[in-house]
Amino acid sequence: MAKLGVNVDHIATIRQARGINEPDPVAAAMIAELAGADGITVHLREDRRHIQDRDVEILRRTIQTRLNLEMALTDEMISIALNLLPDSVTLVPEGRHELTTEGGLDVNLLRATLKQKIALLQQAGIVVSLFVEPDLEQIKSCHRVGADYIEIHTGTYCEMKTVADRREQLQRVRLAISAAHKLGLGVNAGHGLNYQNVGPVVALGGIEEFNIGHSIVARASLVGMERAVREMIALLR
Ligand code: PXP
Repeated sequence: MAKLGVNVDHIATIRQARGINEPDPVAAAMIAELAGADGITVHLREDRRHIQDRDVEILRRTIQTRLNLEMALTDEMISIALNLLPDSVTLVPEGRHELTTEGGLDVNLLRATLKQKIALLQQAGIVVSLFVEPDLEQIKSCHRVGADYIEIHTGTYCEMKTVADRREQLQRVRLAISAAHKLGLGVNAGHGLNYQNVGPVVALGGIEEFNIGHSIVARASLVGMERAVREMIALLR
């Protein structure tokens, strides 16, 4: 059965918009675990636009499932990971001006650095995953640099508007899963998945864990709205 890693970054996005201490992504992570999440994912970005160092430190001490730290391949982030010891690290490309992670890593281009840093993280007992497009050359490179897992970037599939285009992108994901398995790599997937588009990807089989954030936080804000309004009305009356 596929596992769910809940990405709580956007709870922190709401908090940072006000610069106060709520809503707390640590509390959201606990509720996600109580609801059955198999893991918690956070992306500590270099610009600290949502998740803060304090969040990852408290999450490391409090979560009961697994902490997956998404991060860029920088010396600062590698040293944070080696101190924090998350259960896994997912290396992602990071651009200052992007709204969210755009595209996967160019593993071949970064292979020398990746090989060295992956080994460092693994020596510390951290499982290492690389966020890549469903591209066979990239997947071969993931194997060459010694990654444990790939996380397939599902963004392009999610953006497709026609049935034919979606089918074509699903086929790319299917081939990526089977190539990764042949090379002994574990397979996760994420980005852009929501309540409407996740089904066909799950049906492909072979994906161990889905990392999903925005659609879950978006839905939480709506399904929780009625109760939140009722509770405020009760205080006013
Ligand atoms: N996986 C990775 C590597 C990501 O960078 C992101 C976005 O932070 C996600 C999964 C979750 O994407 P979404 O918020 O679109 O569900």
